[in-house]
Amino acid sequence: MANISEQIKKLKEQLTKELKTSNNSLVIEKIRVKFLGKTGLITNLLSQIKNFTIEEKREFASKLNELKKFSEQIIKEKREKILKQKANAKILKKQSFDVTSYLPEKLKGHKHPYSQIIEEIENIFISMGFDLFDGPEVETDYYNFAALNIPENHPARDMYDTFWLNKKNTLLRTHTSPVQVHAMKNKPLPIAGIAIGRTFRHEAVDASHDFMFMQCEGVVIDKNITLSHLFATAKKFLQVMFEKSEKTSNVNVKDLDIRIRPGFFPFVEPGVEIDMRCPFCKNGCSVCKNSTWVEIFPGGLIHPNVLRAGGIDPEKYSGFAFGFGLTRLAMLKYGINDIRHFYGGKLNFLEQF
Ligand code: DAH
Repeated sequence: MANISEQIKKLKEQLTKELKTSNNSLVIEKIRVKFLGKTGLITNLLSQIKNFTIEEKREFASKLNELKKFSEQIIKEKREKILKQKANAKILKKQSFDVTSYLPEKLKGHKHPYSQIIEEIENIFISMGFDLFDGPEVETDYYNFAALNIPENHPARDMYDTFWLNKKNTLLRTHTSPVQVHAMKNKPLPIAGIAIGRTFRHEAVDASHDFMFMQCEGVVIDKNITLSHLFATAKKFLQVMFEKSEKTSNVNVKDLDIRIRPGFFPFVEPGVEIDMRCPFCKNGCSVCKNSTWVEIFPGGLIHPNVLRAGGIDPEKYSGFAFGFGLTRLAMLKYGINDIRHFYGGKLNFLEQF
């Protein structure tokens, strides 16, 4: 029966050794089956008890039981150790995550030209002290027209091919100018802000028209605001905007000039059209149609009726406003000739930016 003691000792050693070199739960499970499974080595030895004599039982039963307990215990301990190691490794991995580590070039995305131009416009105006305003895309007749001095049946409504919604007096805003009125009603004076957002018109889509487009509205209201404030703001904005354009390398845009022509919009009086010197040439090119001037955006002094609609006394305050389409600006800045590229999603167009 020394044989049984020998077998117990050997099994203990073998199990301990095998566990030592195993390092994952699957292997440990295999070892458990090998030793303690239904036909496992230890189970087999235990099943022999029934053949023992009374003396042998007395001598070995408790040792065999102890072997079983011991084996179960060290397998359990090893399993827990591995789980702990795994958890620690996870924590360590998290802690040592390197945010500056290498990222393959091809995975890099970039901003859509629209997003780039929006950021640039916002940054320029923020640097001039403007706030960023916002307004709803679904508007009422009042904000989109009436409050902007375009009452019902006013011919100026014809300029805007409006998407009317099923709800009465409700529409998709045809321009960002309604944000002016929201600002007047909701912000304390003085006001200086821009609002960039989507606008909608019932237009057939072609190379230079879309039914949905982005506009930027600017509004400044304070005591003694004059047209000179508008001109200086427009000039500085355009100079900075086109300063960084690669296409303008042969023109000194630092002192890019502007020109003013009269213009009509019911919500401004007087109204103006602001042109800028062509940033691409000195003597005429296709962009400026050989005139050396590019029509860029309209604006003017806010009409007293609009100030009144916004709850502001036009005897005490005055203001200027302007509005322009982002698409035209982006097309000029990046030399893009078809408006449809912006939403086309074609990679060979987008990857140029
Ligand atoms: N809202 C006008 C449009 O979309 C653009 C505009 C003109 C805005 C003159 C202004 C402005 O603020 O003063 O056609």
